[in-house]
Amino acid sequence: MVKVITYGTYDLLHYGHIRLLERAKALGDYLIVGVTSDDFDRTRGKINVQQSLAERIEAVKSTGLADQIIVEEYEGQKIDDIKRYGVDIFTVGSDWEGQFDYLKDYCKIIYLERTEGISSSDIRSKERELTMGIVGDYASYINKFQQEDKYVNGIKIVGICTENLEEMNKNIKTFPVITKSYNELLKSVDSVYVSANLENRYELIKHALDENKHVLSASPMCQNEKELKELFDLANNKKLILMEGVKTAYSTAYSRLLLLVKAGQIGKVISIDVTCTDMRYSSDKDYKMKSFERWGSNALLPIFQILGTDYKNHRIIAHFSDSQKSQDEFTKIDFIYDNAVASLKVAEGAKSEGELIITGTKGYIYVPAPWWKTDYFEIRFENQNDNRRFFYQLDGEGIRYELLAFTRSIQEEKKIEYIDEKTSISISKIAREIKENKNVIEI
Ligand code: CTP
Repeated sequence: MVKVITYGTYDLLHYGHIRLLERAKALGDYLIVGVTSDDFDRTRGKINVQQSLAERIEAVKSTGLADQIIVEEYEGQKIDDIKRYGVDIFTVGSDWEGQFDYLKDYCKIIYLERTEGISSSDIRSKERELTMGIVGDYASYINKFQQEDKYVNGIKIVGICTENLEEMNKNIKTFPVITKSYNELLKSVDSVYVSANLENRYELIKHALDENKHVLSASPMCQNEKELKELFDLANNKKLILMEGVKTAYSTAYSRLLLLVKAGQIGKVISIDVTCTDMRYSSDKDYKMKSFERWGSNALLPIFQILGTDYKNHRIIAHFSDSQKSQDEFTKIDFIYDNAVASLKVAEGAKSEGELIITGTKGYIYVPAPWWKTDYFEIRFENQNDNRRFFYQLDGEGIRYELLAFTRSIQEEKKIEYIDEKTSISISKIAREIKENKNVIEI
């Protein structure tokens, strides 16, 4: 019996795929089809795949051409599969010509002519493209953000509104709309990314929702939990997406870490210690953000997402800059829960190790600095032999995953909830306390 194997993503199955499978089948007596897992696709940079693994497997099955379907999960798996299943022929489309020649030591390689004029990418991009505008003042962040839409099918950044036009013009590529008028920007887009100063975010988000635009906002979204609740209600009533943009929340490593904790891998969580610091901009006179505004949401995220938002007690200790009383150079917050404790440190005017440690009754998770943009973490136990290391690709600092989740949520008319509303509202409550100097001990 001649066994043939082929691999692919098979997103939105089309006749190019079917023609390939038919010809692959005809090469032998038994056809094995490897369908790529979502994680494997992500690690090789294919982040736009629209259907889930289960849907893609179902589609391949429905062709009736595969005798066996397997999942491709890791780099190098092809050699393992060829040996394990006793494969005689490996085949893929000619778009891969030459790339799998290294398998010739194990079986015969055949590249089949790719069908012209159709691909999953084409089908995906034919869906109507959403437009996005950016409103904000921080050139460096906007620069990073505007480079990411090319990786995400279905959304295009077409405009920018900023008070800082002169400064921005030096840095940004030419958008069709560059304006100081927020109304003008809103008229030209379906959605906005609010990247302005914290004190202006509430008004900007509200205005956009009033104009029926979807909103992705930098975090914290507001300095007042009641205002944020009002914004969520407004968005929900109008069936608009309002999403908080803390890029760490959308990264694969962080999502996996949360799942492992929830699955009890380190036992019950007793303590969380989290630190974020960055002094790069602290000497910049125009840089208005300070420690909590810049880092608070990132640091609160693992605490609220693991221990919840119903803490019994908390204490904020802040050191404000001498010249500007409103700006915290260093803030430490302790939370007491029924059976756990958490502590965060954020600073723009002090430096420390930006790590995350989650202490459990069986072991702990260690995420090295800078933990908020990590692709790596470890689970550690008393017996070092039990330790496990996890690596996940992080592209574009997580911004593109955030943009992808936002785009998908709009397309599917349902928010993909990486950060739930309760967590966002609790973050804005702490922001208010710092602004109002409530529950704050000054040092
Ligand atoms: N294929 C083909 N003809 C096409 C499209 C794909 O022969 N028009 C083949 C590929 O060469 C591969 C298999 O079908 O052997 C699965 O390809 P996949 O990457 O899943 O499909 P694409 O349509 O190329 O997807 P994308 O646009 O996301 O790259």
